[in-house]
Amino acid sequence: MSPTRENFFSKSLTVMPFRLKRNLVLITAGILFTSILETGTMGIIAVFVSAISDPDIVMRSPKLASVLQQIPGELFNSPKNTLLTLAGAASALLLLKNLCSAGVTYAYSRLACKLDTHFGDLLMKNYLCHDYEWHVGHHSADLVTAGTWRRFMSVVWYMGMLAVNDIMLVVMLGLALLYAAPLVTLVAIVTFGLLAGSIFLLLRPRVDKEARTAASSEQRVNKQTSDITQGIKDILISSKQNYFFEQYQKDVTRAANAQARILLLTRIPSWAFETVGFMLLCLAVAGTLAMNENVSSSVISGKLAMLGVVAWRAIPAFNRIVNSLTTLRDNLPKADAVLDAILAMPDSTFSAEEATPLPLKKGITIAGLDFRYGTADSNALHSVNVSIEAGTTVGLVGRSGSGKSTLADLVIGLLSPTAGSISIDGQPLTPQLRNNWIASVGYVGQTPFFTDGSILENVTFGVPADRIDKGHLLHCCKMAALDSLIEQLPGGMEQPLGERAGKLSGGQRQRVAIARALYRNPQLLILDEATSALDQQSENTIKNTVKNLAGSLTMLIIAHRLSTVEQCDKVVWLEGGRIVMDGTPAEVLPHYRASLGAENDLPDSSGDR
Ligand SMILES: Nc1ncnc2c1ncn2[C@@H]1O[C@H](COP(=O)(O)OP(=O)(O)OP(=O)(O)O)[C@@H](O)[C@H]1O
Ligand SMILES: [Mg+2]
Repeated sequence: MSPTRENFFSKSLTVMPFRLKRNLVLITAGILFTSILETGTMGIIAVFVSAISDPDIVMRSPKLASVLQQIPGELFNSPKNTLLTLAGAASALLLLKNLCSAGVTYAYSRLACKLDTHFGDLLMKNYLCHDYEWHVGHHSADLVTAGTWRRFMSVVWYMGMLAVNDIMLVVMLGLALLYAAPLVTLVAIVTFGLLAGSIFLLLRPRVDKEARTAASSEQRVNKQTSDITQGIKDILISSKQNYFFEQYQKDVTRAANAQARILLLTRIPSWAFETVGFMLLCLAVAGTLAMNENVSSSVISGKLAMLGVVAWRAIPAFNRIVNSLTTLRDNLPKADAVLDAILAMPDSTFSAEEATPLPLKKGITIAGLDFRYGTADSNALHSVNVSIEAGTTVGLVGRSGSGKSTLADLVIGLLSPTAGSISIDGQPLTPQLRNNWIASVGYVGQTPFFTDGSILENVTFGVPADRIDKGHLLHCCKMAALDSLIEQLPGGMEQPLGERAGKLSGGQRQRVAIARALYRNPQLLILDEATSALDQQSENTIKNTVKNLAGSLTMLIIAHRLSTVEQCDKVVWLEGGRIVMDGTPAEVLPHYRASLGAENDLPDSSGDR
């Protein structure tokens, strides 16, 4: 369904802070005042232009004369004085009107910019507040799209305010003219009103359709750009450049064509108004001539001057109204998509303060746990019961897709169980406890993320420079077998590692990720295939670290390489989301090995990416 203007504006008011709403009211009052001032100015200019050709015209007009006779002094006592007074008043009012217009335009342009920043902040906050489950169900390019589209929110508001500005001006001019020249005004209002209305109604569905096409094509282009940049290695290896380029090009062309048609559609009103406006002027002259056969040329030029002045202001205003409303509709689908993303904001918010880590004294109990991903039609985990005693090391084994990483994400608190429970020292892992618990967990995933920074920045990860504990950092790098790498790098710990740490090998990246997990001084350390890409020597160093940390730290180690979990206190074997067996490595591993048959002690599954 296409979004409606009314819907959009009322929806965005619900997420607008009070100070911006107040600005909006003040600006509307400013627009009203400026339109009244402009109408007065136009009236005086029209009278002045008529008086140039016939200075007596002012006093011959009963309406004007009755008003001007009230003014004392010599301002209007002679044609010359009348002309000079009108010239002075018109200039002064024009200056004042333009100053007010500049002020109001600046105010609503600034408001549009403030809206842009405000909605941008809301959007980013919203993205950061969503839980992990939401993120796994959404494409990351959606944020990029929404981030670049947020400016359309301010464009729509700006166009809305511009339209209000011109509508008020046209109404005021119309009211003033109705008083001065009712017949001509009525004809003009009816003609232009009908013309503006029919142009708008004719263009609206076309603009809506093209705008939706442009918006959805641009969204797909962003997704394709994100896929291409992230998957360039695989694209090159499989020689699929042409396939990805064609997909991308198809949508870029569709978006560009739609945008070109919108540009044409938005120009149509000005051509129509120009033509009809001039025709109307000719008709008015012909009508005046027909009705007043003996009328002097000065009277005709006086009426013409009035019509000219009105046309000078009213035609562009009509034109701008239709243009602003059409541009508004062009941007509405994008702005509405951003607004919907903002409105889907979760209730929770993130704190600027770091959460206090939760100590783990007794252990973690997982009871009757079921889990299903939002988009899946079956459970990823079924009735899982596991206890992890504090200070022990638990190995998690199972074939690919058996649910190991999912279970780790549930233990961390990134995912919430569909049924059953997870308790930390007997306390259920509720959303209230989650932040403190996450602060206690060190985690190395199968595809760790790296910023475009140094080892120092990637290990301390988000800790401000003045709060980095250098001694602890060096110690963690040593435990993660990173010390020799740091010595080799010309810039040492501060050497930039490139985008996604691209200048490091897969094993080196894993070690940086392990050092990062250790730097947090975690209560629970989760290593999900964290050493799969390491050589034997590096893995031995990490194993020694793990051994030395045993007792002071609780660990959950997921590995396909069984030698990695041989020294654990306990091994849990998962298959198809269910626990097959748990016990000491000596009890479980022989059965697991037997079940694997020839695939015994699988090689790395997640090496260098
Ligand atoms: N975001 C998701 N949405 C839907 N299903 C998912 C999602 N992530 C994982 N799954 C499914 O959940 C099941 C368990 O996946 P999980 O990643 O936990 O397996 P795993 O044991 O860690 O495998 P591997 O050893 O290959 O890493 C799989 O069947 C997988 O397809
Ligand atoms: Mg996994």
